[in-house]
Amino acid sequence: MDIDAVLLRIKGDIGKQIVFYDTVSSSNTVALGLDNRADEGTVIIADSQEKGRGRFGRAWVSPPGANIYMSIILRPAVAARHLTLLTILSAVACACALRGTTGLTVSVKWPNDLMSFDKKIGGILTEIRTIRNELPLAVVGIGVNVNMEGRDFPLSIRSTATSLMHETGRSFHRESIISEILNEMDRWYKAFQAGLWQAIIAEWQRFS
Ligand code: BTN
Repeated sequence: MDIDAVLLRIKGDIGKQIVFYDTVSSSNTVALGLDNRADEGTVIIADSQEKGRGRFGRAWVSPPGANIYMSIILRPAVAARHLTLLTILSAVACACALRGTTGLTVSVKWPNDLMSFDKKIGGILTEIRTIRNELPLAVVGIGVNVNMEGRDFPLSIRSTATSLMHETGRSFHRESIISEILNEMDRWYKAFQAGLWQAIIAEWQRFS
């Protein structure tokens, strides 16, 4: 993974600071552990995860050298009841970025799945830590199956999961996709901060 190639393409505040690991337990766990020691917009990227987490405590298959595993640190200044919108805007940002970089018609499925037709190509796990008298810490964890071969998926998910390579028949430069996702996250997070929530929801509906 060439992090300089990612940094060169970053246009906004999200992704200006990247911490890269060859392997972690889970990039979300690392990000949550940073507490207030990382600026908003800092991103943890790992080449592989030993205990990648999906929703409902499911495992997220995270082999090295193939896919994207990253966690974005945010400190949204909104009431806790509005934080579900973070997952929605992240799904919109990922779908925009994946459509733009791959040409695939990536869609979103409630609440956090990134789909190519009826197969899952990625997912988002948002975890929130609230600390009294401080802005909440929100970690948006994004996993995208990029250059993973069909045979590398465990049998239990082989009929329901896919990768960008499997769908298109070609491999992808992970760095370009990461930077595009981070740039779209920056764009949609700014819309969120500006209160343009209806626009985010409308875009989510268009992709769903
Ligand atoms: C899901 O669809 O169940 C959510 C999957 C989220 C996976 C990503 S990979 C990067 C980050 N670190 C984790 O342990 N999980 C998220």
